[in-house]
Amino acid sequence: MIQKPKGTMDLYGVDASIYKYIESYTDNYMKLYNYEYIKTPTFEDTSLFYRGVGEGTDIVNKETYDFVDKGNRNMTLRPEFTAGVVRSYIENKLYTDNIKKFYYFGSAFRYERPQSGRFREFTQMGVEVFGVKNPYLDSEVISLAYNYLNGLGITDLKVKLNSLGDEITRKTYSEKVKEYLKVDYDNLCDTCKERLEKNPLRILDCKYDGEREYVKNAPKILDYLTEDSISYFEKVKEGLDILGVPYEEDSSLVRGLDYYSDTVFEIVSNLEELGKANTLCGGGRYDSLVKKLDGPDTPGLGFAIGIERIIAVLKELEVFIPKEELDIFVMDLCNDPLVYQVVDDLRGSGFSCEVDYSSKSMKGKWKLVDKYNPAYIVIIGEDEVKGAFVTLKDNTTKEETKVKISELLDYLDMNL
Ligand code: HAM
Repeated sequence: MIQKPKGTMDLYGVDASIYKYIESYTDNYMKLYNYEYIKTPTFEDTSLFYRGVGEGTDIVNKETYDFVDKGNRNMTLRPEFTAGVVRSYIENKLYTDNIKKFYYFGSAFRYERPQSGRFREFTQMGVEVFGVKNPYLDSEVISLAYNYLNGLGITDLKVKLNSLGDEITRKTYSEKVKEYLKVDYDNLCDTCKERLEKNPLRILDCKYDGEREYVKNAPKILDYLTEDSISYFEKVKEGLDILGVPYEEDSSLVRGLDYYSDTVFEIVSNLEELGKANTLCGGGRYDSLVKKLDGPDTPGLGFAIGIERIIAVLKELEVFIPKEELDIFVMDLCNDPLVYQVVDDLRGSGFSCEVDYSSKSMKGKWKLVDKYNPAYIVIIGEDEVKGAFVTLKDNTTKEETKVKISELLDYLDMNL
């Protein structure tokens, strides 16, 4: 039997209902902040991710799904959305507006070792904002993510905050880290040995080396921030205080992608059951990425949230997700074409409607009523067909009424 690929999942039943609920919650929520929806391709030119996410990162080095298409082009399934959204922003010249605020919702792919909360195909909801560099915007974007999770019923959260400073900061700091880690060269993993010269910061979040005490005790970037970066960071924190978002400074937070500058953050759930996959959200500012990808010099920032992790938390917390109710179940007792006409008219007038096509026994039909739990049951048998009426049963009060077919839609309009 063919099975689903390793690290992927089928969503059905409760999980699928939660997924759809989160998707529509996202659309409604993003209206509050006036963000517009953007959809970019699931695969892009491989070089976009090399240049965007960064050659030294695990995501690009080890985790991309690459393929050569029939036209001999190197393509990659997106491991994240930011690079693709930036490409689209540049290609479609969306920078003519002073500020652009996008959100997205869809699949991303990373060839990771599958484990709880870590998949090879997963869903991200995220935002990207272009055109403005203002610390209060950073605070607003962080609070947007925090309130989004709160609104879903996830409240036991920790916001981890750090600053990677400006270019001067990162240059000075990279040198310091390089000097420090050189002493430990022999103990570094093979990938990190290569990283030491070109991209020492990546060693700090290496899945292997980043966990070692020596690496954890490396110099901290906050000690090397320039005056400008310090005052920017102070304002971001002030903004978070004003917005009532609790946060913790975490000087070891460097994030796993190369494009960040100044503000970086993650939102972590305190639920023990999530184990290591407890980071629900990650993001930050990327002021040189648009330029790096051949666009105009435009600041940007954003974040992404892992939807499968949110589903796991909601299930763990037993958060109640409202179920879509079925308006009407039509019980066909006579197999007359009129039944299907009635069903079609009901759906055409906007009532959600189910009809039983199988010739189940009466017991079987009432079992279906229990399963679907509709507001009303429309019963149509031979008497009803002859008299052009239906028997309408209110599933809450259990009262039955006879309603002429010509008056059924009006009756339901008034009562549902
Ligand atoms: P990221 O930290 O790589 O950031 O991913 C964001 C979130 O996606 C993670 O916090 C996690 O919830 C979820 N996630 C990542 N990998 C997996 C996986 N293998 N399985 C399940 N969930 C996963 C980014 O992707 C950046 N593009 C965020 C960003 C947007 N920064 C600026 N703008």
